Amino acid sequence: MVESALAEAAPETGEPDLARARRMVSDDLVVMTAEDGEWRTAALALCQPTFFSAGHAIGKALDGLHVPVPDGAPRLAGAIAHVFNSLAADAVFERFNWTVQFGGDRYTPDGGPLRAQAAALGPEAAADQLHLRVERQTIRRLPETGGVLFTIRIALDPLVPVLRNPETGAALAAGWRGAADNARRYKCWDALEAAMEHLLKRENL
Ligand code: HEM
Repeated sequence: MVESALAEAAPETGEPDLARARRMVSDDLVVMTAEDGEWRTAALALCQPTFFSAGHAIGKALDGLHVPVPDGAPRLAGAIAHVFNSLAADAVFERFNWTVQFGGDRYTPDGGPLRAQAAALGPEAAADQLHLRVERQTIRRLPETGGVLFTIRIALDPLVPVLRNPETGAALAAGWRGAADNARRYKCWDALEAAMEHLLKRENL
């Protein structure tokens, strides 16, 4: 499917097909399969994880993957399973999420060390190293097996230019300040609160 979308042959690296496909796109690739009615992570090529690891995800069911998310299991996991079960053969489902991250690392299996670096620097110095991390995720049916391909692409941008753009700056400030308490806790935003407020005030937001 990746070869036909790009009209390009996958490199002959001798790796499994999923790894060869991953070399052709900037998206991480996750294959989900349903066993006994339960959707699980069957295989993944993960280069830019947002605070999770391949070892954590492999073999896990949707419930187990989403336990840390507010209302993640069973409600969200059940809704995702419903989408996976009813996905039309040629449909592509797309969603985005966002968070604020200290530093510009793309390979971040664990957010803890980044938060510790921000705390060690203090709000003023940390402020200029804050980044906006956006994930674009898609899902589509794998026609031969009935499985689902879940893709994740990361966009990581320094926050200052985003805040200086009048439209995105106001939206981001409102999104940050208006987030529900459980969402803030889940995203561990308290660790970046002082740096973020310093930056928003400095940019008159
Ligand atoms: C329709 C598909 C899916 C939806 C709507 C969805 C929704 C969510 C949401 C709302 C979150 C919280 C962060 C955010 O806002 O993105 C999340 C986190 C997560 N999701 Fe999903 N998800 C989907 C599919 C999957 C699949 C297929 C996997 C398989 C690897 C997965 C693995 C994870 C992991 C590892 C987290 C982080 C949990 C943590 O903080 O430990 N998700 N998902």
